[in-house]
Amino acid sequence: MKLPVAELHIHLEGTLEPETILRLAGQNNIELPWPSLEELRAQYNFSNLQSFLDLFYANMAVLRTAADFQEITTAYLLRAHESGVRHVELFFDPQAHLERGLILAEVIAGIRAGLDEGLARWGITHRLIACFWRHAPAESAMEILRTLVQEKHAIDGIGLDSSELGYPPILFQEVFAYARENGLHVVAHAGEEGPAEYIVQAIDLLKVERIDHGIRCLEDPALVQRLVAEQMPLTVCPLSNVRLRAVDTIADHPLRQMLDLGLKVSIHSDDPAYFGGYLDANFAAVIGQFDLSREDQAVLARNSVEGSFLDAPAKAMLL
Ligand code: ADE
Ligand code: ZN
Repeated sequence: MKLPVAELHIHLEGTLEPETILRLAGQNNIELPWPSLEELRAQYNFSNLQSFLDLFYANMAVLRTAADFQEITTAYLLRAHESGVRHVELFFDPQAHLERGLILAEVIAGIRAGLDEGLARWGITHRLIACFWRHAPAESAMEILRTLVQEKHAIDGIGLDSSELGYPPILFQEVFAYARENGLHVVAHAGEEGPAEYIVQAIDLLKVERIDHGIRCLEDPALVQRLVAEQMPLTVCPLSNVRLRAVDTIADHPLRQMLDLGLKVSIHSDDPAYFGGYLDANFAAVIGQFDLSREDQAVLARNSVEGSFLDAPAKAMLL
């Protein structure tokens, strides 16, 4: 798979490999409940989104310094480069790091240094997207967003992630309005575990430019029609959906159906260190399972570039 692709759904903290977690834990004197690689790896068996998130948030405690963030960003970009990625729109969770007493400016400086290195070494362009937790009050998101905007931190957009069920997008209407008023791009996870109605809300109330996951749109034919008509990008993550039990097996994944319906889907890796593979592995899984033709693969790659926040000339260079 060497078609030029844009990675639009990737959580930086989800690229923390088990070996890196243990090394950084040692380096930063962090005590984890699973001190050996074996014990840590034994935790990677998830029954749903929440069971993954519990481990994901616990493990990111090992990230302490700007250098840690730079290191994992660069390590991810090298891996992305090897799988044909030419442009990355990277998510990170500010609340997770603020909660642990880190300074936002340092977190962002570290990530930005890694992104700049990726551009210089492998020509990978980038955008940075701060994702807010839907399980936390909207006031928390708003306070952090105001700081990000007022202090002119180098982010390009905001997203919405974490536990989905019970936290409808409507709760974040004001946060997203403020982001849009301040020229930020807006995306949201919706329809991963939550119902199709959350996708409708994300579009109508948050006015998002992309839906992350969105696979449950298939439960609402009128919504599917609308997504097709509007060519709303859906960033689908096949290995994530299997590992978090949104679908039973890769054979049950709706990707083929989504493509056939004319939905603007693209393939991404979500939290590759947790779900068994980076972008190349996600492509390989669906190409093998659904016998995707070269043309299907080109459509997926093209959708990723078109769904990105690159400007038109930069998109044209990748198409
Ligand atoms: N944070 C990291 N990965 C996530 C996912 N797949 N869904 C929601 N929040 C997340
Ligand atoms: Zn995600």
